[in-house]
Amino acid sequence: MNSQPLARGPSRRLMLSRGAAAVGAGTASLLLPRIARAQSGKVRVGFMLPYTGTYAQLGVAIENGVRMAIAEKGGKLGGREIEWFKVDDESEPSKGVENASKLVQRDKVDVLIGTVHSGVQMGIQKVARDSGVLSLIPNAGVHAATRALCAPNVFRTSFTNSQPTLALGKPMMDKGLKRAVWLTWKYAAGDEAFEGFRDSYTQAGGTIVKALGLPFPNVEFQALLTEIASLRPDAVVCFFAGAGAAKFIKDYAAAGLKDKIPLWGSGFLTEGVLDAAGPAAEGIMTTMHYADALDTPRNKQFRTAYAQQFKMQPDVYAVQGYDTGQLLLAGANAVKGDLASKAALHKALETAVIDSPRGKWTMSRAHNPVQDMYLRVVEKGDNKVLGVAAKALADSGAGCRLT
Ligand code: BEZ
Repeated sequence: MNSQPLARGPSRRLMLSRGAAAVGAGTASLLLPRIARAQSGKVRVGFMLPYTGTYAQLGVAIENGVRMAIAEKGGKLGGREIEWFKVDDESEPSKGVENASKLVQRDKVDVLIGTVHSGVQMGIQKVARDSGVLSLIPNAGVHAATRALCAPNVFRTSFTNSQPTLALGKPMMDKGLKRAVWLTWKYAAGDEAFEGFRDSYTQAGGTIVKALGLPFPNVEFQALLTEIASLRPDAVVCFFAGAGAAKFIKDYAAAGLKDKIPLWGSGFLTEGVLDAAGPAAEGIMTTMHYADALDTPRNKQFRTAYAQQFKMQPDVYAVQGYDTGQLLLAGANAVKGDLASKAALHKALETAVIDSPRGKWTMSRAHNPVQDMYLRVVEKGDNKVLGVAAKALADSGAGCRLT
């Protein structure tokens, strides 16, 4: 973890004296952190991600993706070198504000990249709104970040929690799965994923027999699996991710349900866990904005380069990290490294077209990706694409007011 003092140079002093002349001594001291950031030699980039716990491998994949995208373009942002900072957020919502403040107040980052867990994201959102620091969300799908609590300086490169599940209803009904049980970790990610599933499935004519849940990151699934067996639905639909998803897939098969009740979910269920889950994952159907097997030159080139560099296969989290790096490059290059030029920076981020391994995507007005959702099935240890389940799907952005 780095914590070096800010560079002191003539240009910084000039900015300080101009600031003091314009606004008076009292207000000038309030502006100090932003002024200092604008003139630092290196761009200060902070990662706030889980590096321990059930989402640890998601955090690593995101960081890999960000670094890879920037390294591919010479390792600089708008011509400036980068100083990296890291905080392990442990997927712990109660420490969200404190951890984000470490990066923003202590390390004085110009951009905060984080995080994975929706509850932790709410802490980052508060710090981002209060400080005005550029906040790039590489995973957490919590609705509020790009709905009621949206902000000019907050941009998401992943999804909202209900985006992938909004694509589930129709393909399930097309397969004649009319009665489903929903199961999730009970926190914003699972609850909001349920909203997308509920809306699309009931609109397509499906019936939700029961919605079940357990606290995050609990993985004691046995009692719930027994209940599911007794309910005998046509399908089980769920939100789980990371190490917990691998455990759920194996427990589902071990309970004898795999060949009796088809398992569906948002694609996080089968992302980055297929080696760990093994044959138990075969046949699981999901919807997601990415698939390993997307047959495009862009995806193939990305996958080969990532595997070579990190000696592991990329997943959706690596793609989201990679696109976060691409977005940051687009913004920083547009303002020639002057990240303090907020209006021009935000405009560049709003209008960027990201040439992603998932397919090209753009930002919605509320700063969330407008993107295709793919229908996928696990086949021979890979997420195979069956087709596009929803084209250019945008989140509603309800309640977001950005001028
Ligand atoms: C979330 O908490 O927003 C989340 C975590 C893992 C995968 C997807 C969403």
